[in-house]
Amino acid sequence: MTKLKLVVALVIAGILGLQSPSIAKDLSKTQMKKDQSNHNIKKETTMNAPNKFEFQPLPYAYDALEPFIDKLTVEIHYSKHHKAYYDNFINAIKGAEMESMGIKDIFKSISKYPMAARNNSGGYFNHTFYWESMKAHGGGLPTGKLSEAITKTFSSFEEFKKQFSDAGKTRFGSGWAWLCLDDNGSLFICSTPNQDNPLMDIAEKKGIPLLTMDVWEHAYYLKYQNKRPDYVEAFWNFVNWDEVAKRYESALK
Ligand SMILES: [Fe+2]
Repeated sequence: MTKLKLVVALVIAGILGLQSPSIAKDLSKTQMKKDQSNHNIKKETTMNAPNKFEFQPLPYAYDALEPFIDKLTVEIHYSKHHKAYYDNFINAIKGAEMESMGIKDIFKSISKYPMAARNNSGGYFNHTFYWESMKAHGGGLPTGKLSEAITKTFSSFEEFKKQFSDAGKTRFGSGWAWLCLDDNGSLFICSTPNQDNPLMDIAEKKGIPLLTMDVWEHAYYLKYQNKRPDYVEAFWNFVNWDEVAKRYESALK
């Protein structure tokens, strides 16, 4: 077939909607790539859409942290307290610019938003972070780079434990104890009141959270009543050190 005849044949085939098997194959590959790329864009868009704020499932059963935290406490804490923060957070950002922002960007400028957004975004994030900081049969000792950094910073694991426990025990009223990484790559311990956290621009000392402990009474009152120090001591028996180490290594990158 001459070149001219081939061109004419292709034009006619195009008009009739016909395609050679090889052209169809190539087009279908291109379409698949397009679909894949659209899928990726959609996925990314979804991450930035309002529904990116999901109420994540509890990573274990309500009774998984027994006997240190009882089943009823975990159930009420997760399904009532945490869920209420989540619902109120979603309501607080409805129609506001925060709806299209990531949670960490919201925290970076939290001081310019209403108190309802501050309390509920913190309550939503902090609790998710807290649940993932623990696991059934957790505890023990940190390992690897995290263990080395803890020893280097606090002189020993026992000293770190003491300082972190004290941050929780001495937090006046309700709040959180944190182990964080600062901008210089150093570990530090702090505590925040209410539902604040170290990612917020209002935090006394800002950093990337690695481990947290909820010291609101609702976290321990049914089992420990007013004895917060007993709850704090028990906490060490279910820390998820693998998760904390993962957070540390990803924060270092
Ligand atoms: Fe809580």
